[in-house]
Amino acid sequence: MTRVILKNVTKKFKDVTAVKNINLEIDDKEFMVFVGPSGCGKTTTLRMIAGLDEITEGDIYIGDRRINDVPPKNRNIAMVFQSYALYPHMSVYDNMAFGLKLRKIQKSEIDNRVAEAAEILGLTDLLERLPKQLSGGQRQRVALGRAIVRQPLVFLMDEPLSNLDAKLRVQMRAELQKLHRRLNATVIYVTHDQVEAMTLGQRISVILNGELQQVAPPIEVYEKPVNRFVAGFIGSPPMNFIKGVLRKSKDIFTFEASSFKFDIPKDLEFDQLLDPYQDKNMLFGIRPSDIWDVPSSAWIDRKFTIDAKVDFRELMGSETYVYLKVGDIPLVTRVGTMTDTAPGSKFTIVINLRKIHLFDPEAQKAII
Ligand SMILES: Nc1ncnc2c1ncn2[C@@H]1O[C@H](COP(=O)(O)OP(=O)(O)OP(=O)(O)O)[C@@H](O)[C@H]1O
Ligand SMILES: [Mg+2]
Repeated sequence: MTRVILKNVTKKFKDVTAVKNINLEIDDKEFMVFVGPSGCGKTTTLRMIAGLDEITEGDIYIGDRRINDVPPKNRNIAMVFQSYALYPHMSVYDNMAFGLKLRKIQKSEIDNRVAEAAEILGLTDLLERLPKQLSGGQRQRVALGRAIVRQPLVFLMDEPLSNLDAKLRVQMRAELQKLHRRLNATVIYVTHDQVEAMTLGQRISVILNGELQQVAPPIEVYEKPVNRFVAGFIGSPPMNFIKGVLRKSKDIFTFEASSFKFDIPKDLEFDQLLDPYQDKNMLFGIRPSDIWDVPSSAWIDRKFTIDAKVDFRELMGSETYVYLKVGDIPLVTRVGTMTDTAPGSKFTIVINLRKIHLFDPEAQKAII
């Protein structure tokens, strides 16, 4: 069992607190992704698990062992970095074998492990090449191979794909998923790219300013973000946020923005959650994919309609992002390419009320 457990883990660099009191259990063989904006503490957390940075407060366990004072080489982990830093004068084989040679592992065993890793990664025919004779994706695979041959219990990966071009990243993303299934190991993967987080993670830990915001499977983070930051960070184009006030009259809650308002259907059973917010400012959130054009919205059972005007649009090929104005309120929606979205034209939109979010604007937390 190779769970990784962080208990009240804090990291301070002099007066900078990079990681604040993180509590997290990563399951045996889980693919866990740390995601958050630049500087939020992802790398620092990973480096503490690896033993490359000292833990200021708290404890880290790998398996059942508290590893705060265990030197990195005895932690049974392997780390893959963004810069793959291969030895330029060594062949692919030697790059992968190097760490094992240092550990005085038998030549036949090294051969076996390198051959197996090369096979998994599709590098078998490239073992004699030098790094400069490889493509970026192939070099990245060698860096992964170097970690695989060590047969660690836990892989720590810090933005390993960010040096690759967009197409290669997508390809390597798929390969990493397959690799995880095949290796049967625990993986902790750091990225600031929410698409990578959504597609790779069995669970995602969203981090902001050194603090864990939400830990959940990707779909849950997407559908039930716990606060405004998570709601805005995950999803592209980002969720729309609109300021307004929550009113209650004749037992019906109404959200009132400057240029539109809507009633919240009773059968959605939000009343209890909303009661404390009567007559208070609230932030209404709706994802672009939950705003529809009239013809495609026929199936939606709880909805309301607003007249908007097309401000501008982005044609993505398979879909169109339409930037709308409802009075002075900007809204983004995603529609199919058949819809007429000429700038300046009138556009009636339908909002799926089953997908609305309301946030407490002060605490920033999600109420529904
Ligand atoms: N050695 C250090 N000394 C002082 N401050 C540091 C040190 N390393 C990191 N920090 C600070 O700690 C915070 C977290 O840094 P970290 O590298 O963990 O961020 P990150 O989430 O990995 O960001 P990125 O996505 O840019 O890689 C930042 O404010 C950073 O400036
Ligand atoms: Mg980093």
